[in-house]
Amino acid sequence: MPPEMNSAKSDQSVLARDEAGSRAGQLRAEINLANRLYYVENAPELDDAEWDAKMRELLALEQTYPELKTPDSPTQRVGAPPSPGFDEVVHRVPMLSLGNVFDEEGLSAWYQRALDYLELESTPMVCELKIDGLALAITYRDGVMERAATRGDGERGEDVTANVRTIRSVPLALENDPPPVIELRGEVFFPNSKFAALNAEREKAGLPAYVNPRNSASGSLRQLDSGETAKRPLDMFFYALGYIEGARQPSTHWELLQAVRNWGGRVNPWTRRANSIEEVMAAISDAGEVRESLDYGIDGVVIKIDSLALQSRLGYVGRDPRWAIAYKFPAERVETTLKAIHVNVGRTGALTPWAELDPVMVGGVKIGRATLHNRDEIVRKDFREGDRVIVQRAGDVIPQVVGLSPNNKRSADSISFVFPGRCPSCGTETVQTGDEAVTRCVNGTCPAQFERLLEHFASRGAMDIEGLGERVAQDLPRLGFVKSIADIYRLAERRGDLLELEKMGETRVKNLLNAIENSRSQPLSRLLYALGISRIGSESAEWLSRRFRGLAALKVATEDELLAIDGIGSVVATTLVDYFAVEQNQRLIDDLIALGVNPIDDTPEPSADHPANGMTFVVTGRLETMSRSEAQSRIKALGGKATGTVTGKTDYLVAGAEAGSKLEKAVRLNVRVINEEEFIAFMDRGIVPSAPGS
Ligand code: IVH
Repeated sequence: MPPEMNSAKSDQSVLARDEAGSRAGQLRAEINLANRLYYVENAPELDDAEWDAKMRELLALEQTYPELKTPDSPTQRVGAPPSPGFDEVVHRVPMLSLGNVFDEEGLSAWYQRALDYLELESTPMVCELKIDGLALAITYRDGVMERAATRGDGERGEDVTANVRTIRSVPLALENDPPPVIELRGEVFFPNSKFAALNAEREKAGLPAYVNPRNSASGSLRQLDSGETAKRPLDMFFYALGYIEGARQPSTHWELLQAVRNWGGRVNPWTRRANSIEEVMAAISDAGEVRESLDYGIDGVVIKIDSLALQSRLGYVGRDPRWAIAYKFPAERVETTLKAIHVNVGRTGALTPWAELDPVMVGGVKIGRATLHNRDEIVRKDFREGDRVIVQRAGDVIPQVVGLSPNNKRSADSISFVFPGRCPSCGTETVQTGDEAVTRCVNGTCPAQFERLLEHFASRGAMDIEGLGERVAQDLPRLGFVKSIADIYRLAERRGDLLELEKMGETRVKNLLNAIENSRSQPLSRLLYALGISRIGSESAEWLSRRFRGLAALKVATEDELLAIDGIGSVVATTLVDYFAVEQNQRLIDDLIALGVNPIDDTPEPSADHPANGMTFVVTGRLETMSRSEAQSRIKALGGKATGTVTGKTDYLVAGAEAGSKLEKAVRLNVRVINEEEFIAFMDRGIVPSAPGS
């Protein structure tokens, strides 16, 4: 027994080290079980006093023998010491988003696309509530929670383990023989019933109120002091598998959900299986009915293909899985008064009118501004200041004014809105070209456009420079500190000037400069997207990055080179060539390179030396292990061409069962015919099928 113990407590109350260890283990198990029954299964077995007593005993033991404090101890839920920030977590498997549909037609189309891809007549699905919270990925190693990470941008999130430990319904340790390593994903949310109370408290403390439960979940989870998170009643449901190691993967999603329940994880009790779109629609209508009775927000139903093997065959298109879809509930609509119409100048010079509203609650959020789309929309609907209007908001979509209220009554002095003929920022005459609905300011040096561009450049999906938000993006150019994007990387030399900015103290300046410095290592695709070139989204930026590898090569790309990229059409190609033809833009690129902001994309080209690269294939007949679409995707991924017609230029015909006229034609034209087995060896291992007879 450590000597200091004798003085601290009476001999009887202090257990020997060994005994203490086993008693602590027992208490941990009892408390964790009690917590699970209480928080996960809603069937408490211990009363509060018993629970408190066990907890106090365990705390005392751990205080005496700190080495007994295991990461899965329930005492760890009270919160770890404040952290200076969150570590970055790179997700092993990206956390992607979901495509949306809004009606039965969209839903059927999604299902049919999946069936076509798989060449199936039907396949079972699972329907779940789409919880309006925050996605989390939690890794358990040997059953114990090792790490919890937010979704972040999907590739990289934040390590919020200390905070997640404080969420009572999240098991610190899984039970019943969990896999050696498993990452489970789910949604954290803030119960509606506790939301008003939290805001009341915040107001009392002089803190800004959260706009909705979702934001309060996010705010609570991102507290630097996990003791603070521990005070928030966060809750969580698991709904997906990130990855699994050392154990068999369940064969269906349904089976996974049962397994998670068995390990002690909370799974939403409203979960339905469906075998047809009719059954899915019935489930959706049921979900719409239970919605009102839930203590958390849902904004739709998520429909998933049940078989995990089929899920992995289906894979992803862009950022959305083919194997799941979100059916969104209709947007909520509310009536209010349109107080004033303002016009904003966007990054590309587009003038967008927006409505200042009498604030109203729409779908749990207070709305004071909404978009009015464009000039034509205002003319068509004749929106006027002072009108009663209908406002709607769907999920994360920007709130919009959809029309005049049937109750709208105008006073005699009401007048139609006159759209400004000049840019509200720089005064340049605006233009509206051809059939484009947008009115633009075409002044390339318009200050408002540049401010928006700065904001976009620094935004999370772009260069991710925290601290360069709306206000700083206005101040920097107005004070002349930043005249071009490249100047951002010259700010380090103007530390003194930055301190002059409003609300910028030492710490903020330091953080901003650090964030700028860190942004230098963003990949090329991010930088390309960040430049805000019209029509270049994050996906096309990735294709460009892969093809050109660096700014220098992209700057001189020709239209033909651009058109040769799968996914880049003539409009985008022209836009890019035009962009790089502008002298200012050329100078910007040169400046960035000179300042060392010149990321190089060195991801290896998977298909460059694969023998299928550059070859032309036709796939016909029924394959055993994959569908024709999958075979075609694989050919394209390796740099080959997959076409529908056999010609003299076809290198290989991949013939499955019941191949018909294409096979005949291939034989006639002397095109090499290979079977599925040869095709797979070719694709997987690069084994070129030998010539017939050799
Ligand atoms: S599955 C690859 N299931 O919705 C997609 N997501 O809009 C994996 N969400 O990021 C997500 N409830 O945060 C799934 N039952 C549910 C969900 C759900 C809410 C969220 C999740 C996701 C977002 C996509």
